[in-house]
Amino acid sequence: MKHTSLHIPVQIFQDFTELNPSDALLLEAARKATGHAYAPYSNFRVGAAVMLIDGQTLSGSNQENASFPAGICAERVVLSAASATFPGTAIISLALTYVNKSSTSNRPISPCGICRQTLAEYEQRFNHPIRMILGGISGEIFIVNRATDLLPFAFSNQELNTY
Ligand code: THU
Repeated sequence: MKHTSLHIPVQIFQDFTELNPSDALLLEAARKATGHAYAPYSNFRVGAAVMLIDGQTLSGSNQENASFPAGICAERVVLSAASATFPGTAIISLALTYVNKSSTSNRPISPCGICRQTLAEYEQRFNHPIRMILGGISGEIFIVNRATDLLPFAFSNQELNTY
């Protein structure tokens, strides 16, 4: 038996002003996107924005449904939009933010499990890490180099025999 451990590098920024210009631009786009969320059930408005390898940006927001499981997270909205509109163009970063009911959005959120799984497969498809920029409307911002850092021991298609 042997022991091992995983190391996940995270950069923590005091606030928005410390970000590099392209991360700041993307987080700003995600913040704007919270305004397009359809979240009448949770009142938790999530915004996500991606940057493609050619510098284009797209944004998305959570879209809920009266049949709750039918709703979709902001991350998967924007990932699908990017892949459907610009197929074959790698996604290099994703910014994620939110506005909640009490309007206290002063610390980062992190993608849910399904979104982590989805992000992992986009990294694999494009063979490119997706830099994750996680922040609230104010407060500290966490940056993680690749989405799969958030999903150790991920399930992947490697063992999946498809016919
Ligand atoms: N949500 C996201 O959009 N992204 C996440 O990573 C976590 C949760 C949405 C789903 C639902 O519309 C609302 O936030 C509350 O869970």
